[in-house]
Amino acid sequence: MQSKEHWDTIYTSKSSDHVSWFQTHAKLSLQFINETGLLADASIIDVGGGASTLVDDLLDKGFSKITILDLSATALAVAQQRLGSRSQTVQWMEANIVEVQLPQYAYDVWHDRAVFHFLTSPQERHAYVEQVLRSVRPGGHVIIATFSEDGPTQCSGLPVTRYSAEELYAEFGARFTLLRHVKEDHHTPSGALQKFVYCYCRKN
Ligand SMILES: C[S@@+](CC[C@H](N)C(=O)[O-])C[C@H]1O[C@@H](n2cnc3c(N)ncnc32)[C@H](O)[C@@H]1O
Repeated sequence: MQSKEHWDTIYTSKSSDHVSWFQTHAKLSLQFINETGLLADASIIDVGGGASTLVDDLLDKGFSKITILDLSATALAVAQQRLGSRSQTVQWMEANIVEVQLPQYAYDVWHDRAVFHFLTSPQERHAYVEQVLRSVRPGGHVIIATFSEDGPTQCSGLPVTRYSAEELYAEFGARFTLLRHVKEDHHTPSGALQKFVYCYCRKN
């Protein structure tokens, strides 16, 4: 399990648009959230959202029930500062996703880009899936992106587990229905190519 200090140091030492996972816009994530067909009153949690620009675009689209959860208070502060007064409409949670107590059936959409792949022990992954089962409403939408089977073996100096779409879906299992999966070529700010896989599931 990586530490909060590790992530706080990353977000202190690099600007948020120079970290390898930076996206000007989280296009595929937005596309999947659009595909849910949910209206702007949908409750969305971005797990390990960090300083991602996803929240900016969701606010632009009128979504009003957004939660950004992250281990790093520094990452959350970067996003808050960027958003200015708009940050007040967002719920910010500094927490470890495998330990936090989330409210039951609170979310219509669970989004995670590049967090689940840091969970390298079966115990952590089990705890994560239990969180999804508890806090996403029945019929809710789950969008998870990790490095794919041909992606990097590390991210920000930490080991990751890589997945094919089938392997990623298998972690969640029969309590979810896989609706769509897609691979993405992510180009880091320094020009490297990183292969991601996205799985979009419905909680049964
Ligand atoms: C690779 S970054 C991805 C950030 C964001 N999802 C994006 O796509 O821009 C991983 C993020 O997950 C956070 N993180 C790592 N482990 C976590 C955990 N166990 N619980 C909550 N957040 C975590 C880190 O602080 C960091 O912001």
